[in-house]
Amino acid sequence: MAEIAVLLVLKKIAIALAGETLSFAKPLLAKKSESVAALPDDMKLISNELELIRAFLKEIGRKGWKSEVIETWIGQVRRLAYDMEDTVDHFIYVVGTHDQMGSCWDYMKKIAKKPRRLVSLDEIASEIKKIKQELKQLSESRDRWTKPLDGGSGIPAGSYETEKEMYLPGHDYTISDEELAGIDENKQTLISSLKFEDPSLRIIAVWGMGGVGKSTLVNNVYKNEGSNFDCRAWVSISQSYRLEDIWKKMLTDLIGKDKIEFDLGTMDSAELREQLTKTLDKRQYLIILDDVWMANVFFKIKEVLVDNGLGSRVIITTRIEEVASLAKGSCKIKVEPLGVDDSWHVFCRKAFLKDENHICPPELRQCGINIVEKCDGLPLALVAIGSILSLRPKNVDEWKLFYDQLIWELHNNENLNRVEKIMNLSYKYLPDYLKNCFLYCAMFPEDYLIHRKRLIRLWIAEGFIEQKGACSLEDTAESYLKELIRRSMLHVAERNCFGRIKCIRMHDLVRELAIFQSKREGFSTTYGGNNEAVLVGSYSRRVAVLQCSKGIPSTIDPSRLRTLITFDTSRALSVWYSSISSKPKYLAVLDLSSLPIETIPNSIGELFNLRLLCLNKTKVKELPKSITKLQNLQTMSLENGELVKFPQGFSKLKKLRHLMVSRLQDVTFSGFKSWEAVEPFKGLWTLIELQTLYAITASEVLVAKLGNLSQLRRLIICDVRSNLCAQLCGSLSKLCQLSRLTIRACNEDEVLQLDHLTFPNPLQTLSLDGRLSEGTFKSPFFLNHGNGLLRLMLFYSQLSENPVPHLSELSNLTRLSLIKAYTGQELYFQAGWFLNLKELYLKNLSRLNQIDIQEGALASLERITMKHLPELREVPVGFRFLKSLKTIFFSDMHPEFESSFQKEM
Ligand SMILES: *[C@@H]1O[C@H](CO)[C@@H](O)[C@H](O)[C@H]1NC(C)=O
Ligand SMILES: *[C@@H]1O[C@H](CO)[C@@H](O)[C@H](O)[C@H]1NC(C)=O
Ligand SMILES: *[C@@H]1O[C@H](CO)[C@@H](O)[C@H](O)[C@H]1NC(C)=O
Ligand SMILES: *[C@@H]1O[C@H](CO)[C@@H](O)[C@H](O)[C@H]1NC(C)=O
Ligand SMILES: *[C@@H]1O[C@H](CO)[C@@H](O)[C@H](O)[C@H]1NC(C)=O
Repeated sequence: MAEIAVLLVLKKIAIALAGETLSFAKPLLAKKSESVAALPDDMKLISNELELIRAFLKEIGRKGWKSEVIETWIGQVRRLAYDMEDTVDHFIYVVGTHDQMGSCWDYMKKIAKKPRRLVSLDEIASEIKKIKQELKQLSESRDRWTKPLDGGSGIPAGSYETEKEMYLPGHDYTISDEELAGIDENKQTLISSLKFEDPSLRIIAVWGMGGVGKSTLVNNVYKNEGSNFDCRAWVSISQSYRLEDIWKKMLTDLIGKDKIEFDLGTMDSAELREQLTKTLDKRQYLIILDDVWMANVFFKIKEVLVDNGLGSRVIITTRIEEVASLAKGSCKIKVEPLGVDDSWHVFCRKAFLKDENHICPPELRQCGINIVEKCDGLPLALVAIGSILSLRPKNVDEWKLFYDQLIWELHNNENLNRVEKIMNLSYKYLPDYLKNCFLYCAMFPEDYLIHRKRLIRLWIAEGFIEQKGACSLEDTAESYLKELIRRSMLHVAERNCFGRIKCIRMHDLVRELAIFQSKREGFSTTYGGNNEAVLVGSYSRRVAVLQCSKGIPSTIDPSRLRTLITFDTSRALSVWYSSISSKPKYLAVLDLSSLPIETIPNSIGELFNLRLLCLNKTKVKELPKSITKLQNLQTMSLENGELVKFPQGFSKLKKLRHLMVSRLQDVTFSGFKSWEAVEPFKGLWTLIELQTLYAITASEVLVAKLGNLSQLRRLIICDVRSNLCAQLCGSLSKLCQLSRLTIRACNEDEVLQLDHLTFPNPLQTLSLDGRLSEGTFKSPFFLNHGNGLLRLMLFYSQLSENPVPHLSELSNLTRLSLIKAYTGQELYFQAGWFLNLKELYLKNLSRLNQIDIQEGALASLERITMKHLPELREVPVGFRFLKSLKTIFFSDMHPEFESSFQKEM
């Protein structure tokens, strides 16, 4: 369908005709020719006609019409919509640059060149005329052939449109793996093969068809049993694996991201292998190789998997029996589809999500059973179908209709497997506004962990998210994300300690479907990453470069690009980017994370449409002055980069919502300043749309005017001096939206005078880096029990008095980190303290020699990390009271600690 393209262009036209743009445009247009002056009206006409077409496209979908003529016609609509989008962007571009140039107008006249953009307006006008003409023809041809078709055939009428429901932030409609029935038996087999009393390395294979739940099963076991191993790793082996990436992922998992003490980026394959062999040598490890396609891939990986005689285990999941045969006898586990009862249970669990017992009413039962039968016991299909039905009216007619559509779908695409067909149906049932968001996720590499925040910012930059009342775009986007999860199109991969979605993942089958649909729609193209050569059509607006080892995509037409995201980090790609950088005039999203570029071309200032610029982990030290021309920029990120200072005039970027910079100094993240902040630019405090701001040094002016940034939600302010603290507290007390805050002193010895710390709204996360004044815990904030604070980190506070009794008042804390925070010898936790705490980090407490835990303290604690506690010789007293504990991590402890631990456990 071409709805997506039509919907996007309709939104664009609306923007072009909105008051703001038009008020700039009117005087400019009035001075011009008749056809230019008529531009707004013509655009309105086109928009009306497109609305009709959109309604008609829906009708086609509903009636299930299918024919060559229709397909051709839809293709023409799509192309026209894209042409129109280009033209509208061009219009916005011209009008926008005019406004911006207003001030240097006189100068322009002096140098006596006819400004190009005035010519452009005429071009736009004639382009619009042409489109109007074509649109007319399209409508006429439609009328010619719809007559004979009417009366219809194909699938039963009934709309794919679903009930519109908004999901409130905070509600969670997903079901956890544990609740998926049927994996019990396999789970037991798998667990027992892990524990098999055999010290030699074992290879276990879990195989079965796509969507049968192999990864779910293994993931479940990995989560629950993994902590019995010394170290573990989960590596997805996509069809386009690179050994180097596999090594890196393994090392990161095995050692832990924040504990790696070498720079993975600079290591070559041989060094990585050597490091791996070293890491695996003396430890009992568990490694998951997910979705292995070919046996020879496994053989290459196996070369580093030393058999250390410690009972290490490797689990492979695969769809291919030949690969599974690498495992011997009982270690080859076949995952079969669910039986009838389990299928029914899983289906009802989803379809009747909101009813407590998930019971199917008797009148729907037979129809439900018929539907479930078609799912062949595949959990992915059951969950997807259940999700669709949960959103539809629960009556027999609706369900019958749905059943007929399902049958039609299954019969219609002969050569596809069943899950794919069912997921295809789920896709059709997505409302249009979710289709874009869904297809977007396919631009990330296979099995990629997509961070919620990153995805949301991308969606917003693409213009997928509509303003809904007083809801911020970010909140609306999050509700879309939850809706996609609820429909089982995306899965939650990770949550933070208070249950909010942190990362999501796309099932590989679902991703294949999304890529297929993306190509059809000309929505996006992923380049590289698959063995097949990917054709990049000239109409593709979004390109993700996953891998460019086979050369640079010469088929990409940069002039039409709206989005460029790179995942490859090769120099060749940097060179390619530099060569095209001035061509994509309409670019809205440019994400060059990790690309080894050092400069950004000055021509970036011409990208008038740019909304998101991400230069994370690049080597860019300085931004060109022209960047201040990017009037539409919403997100600018340069995290873990090298930026030294902002160019002058940065405060002209009035639409900035998220500004994130930091300079990485020390990849091991030890020491007080492992990253540096950047000095604020003049006028930073006038960017009143800012929601995210970090990491910025605390200049006197900034501290004084910070209170003006009323939208701030997340702030990291560094290099704070004692004498500015009082004013800082004053400014912070004005930030009504603030939820995450880090304050860092200018050095280890400076005291943060936070006696007046207070916030108008509950803060979620607070990190205080540096020494603390005595009054800090008596500040209004702490006296009010931290207003529901969820995460607290005290870093380098070096308190001589035990802070824990004060902190125990923060009854909602879910994570507490004390890092070099206390110089005393003893910590104790009394009954009733920290009942919600899930994670506790104790690091660099140099004199600590005793930890006392009473029964009834820390009742929900799941994870405890202890590191660099050189005087602690014994396992904390009362450790056995921690009934919820799942993971214990310790390193760099006193030698006696380990033996004490062995004895205790
Ligand atoms: C999905 O449905 C479309 C028709 O709407 C069809 O052309 C396509 O082949 C199907 N794709 C998959 C992966 O099932
Ligand atoms: C930049 O990188 C940081 C850290 O890797 C990440 O948290 C952030 O989401 C990234 N920003 C964008 C826009 O991708
Ligand atoms: C913790 O202590 C160790 C050993 O003294 C030191 O190397 C490390 O830098 C310290 N870490 C922090 C965060 O201060
Ligand atoms: C900050 O806000 C106050 C009132 O809220 C306003 O009077 C002042 O002009 C603002 N300052 C700046 C620099 O925008
Ligand atoms: C803890 O959270 C609950 C609900 O989330 C809230 O009602 C309560 O006030 C919070 N506790 C404190 C001490 O603020």
